[in-house]
Amino acid sequence: MIKINENFLELQDSYLFATIAKKVAEFTKENPDKKVIKLGIGDVTRPIPEAILEAMHKATDEFKKTETFRGYGPEQGYDFLREKIKENDYKTRGVEIDIDEIFVSDGAKCDCGNIVDIFSQDNKVAITDPVYPVYLDTNVMSGRSGKYNKESDKYENIVYIPATSKNNFVPELPKEKVDMIYLCYPNNPTGTTLTKEQLKVWVDYAKENKAIILFDAAYEAFISDEDVPHSIYEIEGAKEVAIEFRSFSKTAGFTGIRCAFVVIPKQLKGYSESGEEISLNKLWNRRHCTKFNGVSYVTQRAAEAIYTEEGKKQVKENIDYYKENAKIIKKGLEEAGYTVYGGVNSPYVWLKLPDGVKSWDFFDKLLTKANVVGTPGVGFGPSGEGYFRLTGFGTKENTIEAIERIKK
Ligand code: MLT
Repeated sequence: MIKINENFLELQDSYLFATIAKKVAEFTKENPDKKVIKLGIGDVTRPIPEAILEAMHKATDEFKKTETFRGYGPEQGYDFLREKIKENDYKTRGVEIDIDEIFVSDGAKCDCGNIVDIFSQDNKVAITDPVYPVYLDTNVMSGRSGKYNKESDKYENIVYIPATSKNNFVPELPKEKVDMIYLCYPNNPTGTTLTKEQLKVWVDYAKENKAIILFDAAYEAFISDEDVPHSIYEIEGAKEVAIEFRSFSKTAGFTGIRCAFVVIPKQLKGYSESGEEISLNKLWNRRHCTKFNGVSYVTQRAAEAIYTEEGKKQVKENIDYYKENAKIIKKGLEEAGYTVYGGVNSPYVWLKLPDGVKSWDFFDKLLTKANVVGTPGVGFGPSGEGYFRLTGFGTKENTIEAIERIKK
């Protein structure tokens, strides 16, 4: 008899964005005449910049000839891309990262989900609340969560660290000792950021407690404030305690093309049962080579083109476009009397709902009355109740129209 992984039975409902997609599909089927504007999942809408497309075409043509044909590439990614990442994403910010500390992959979601493979099931996991659901769900799947409590909407073994308007979205250090800490900045879903000083508090905690920080920086390209770090490695000592996840999805419109990378510094150590120090870079390399055959050559050439002068310029234009949308949402909602957060160093705007309004009720009302899709805050965790997320990733026309409809 084939037995299943029982941990999966602890998962609640379906994946948040799948639930939303299903609800929207049902509504659209029943109301084919309604124009639904989607500002829910953070999916990009701008065309891929020309410099990137050119590089993809060129790379595709290389497959025409035996001399330039490519088969399997290095699992960790081609050096031509890893060199560009090292120089542009890190060296320019005063951070020294070697290319063998960079692992190119097909998405930050997969990396955030897969990383749990290299950690013991006994580790205590801390997440900020609200949070990108992948961190929690993948720890439920891998057996670190314990049982779900319906009343509190929490898992018994997970430490939830609230980040709400009450603490100005600055999470406090956990009162109990934790081992794995998920931080995402600029934050998904709240769109808020931490300064270097605020992030340093976490790096110091991780050092003191021999913990690890899993730092998701998928939205770093949206940062414009000077004091907001783009990488956790800008904080002294972070290379000893942090893994960083980066993505080209939101930066360069790669949600469909798929390319990302994870940085695991060589000095980063975990501990065996006997207390021996083990290199996490080596463990991940072993896992990566066994379970992954690398990102396609064409995709990596596309990602490389992001770092050309032309590529940088065109990518920035798209980011500015989305940031302008976020600004339109923020301003429009403020004019309508709402309190909103984020939307400055982030494509996400986090809207505080009037007292007593539940976020799924607001979702339903917005969908049926204004035909606008957003994401209910509670879908990101119990502290997200009473909030609602809208994204700047739509088209400008749709964004303006959506805000007009919401105002009405
Ligand atoms: C989001 O909307 O939170 C993101 O698009 C989800 C993701 O990146 O997987």
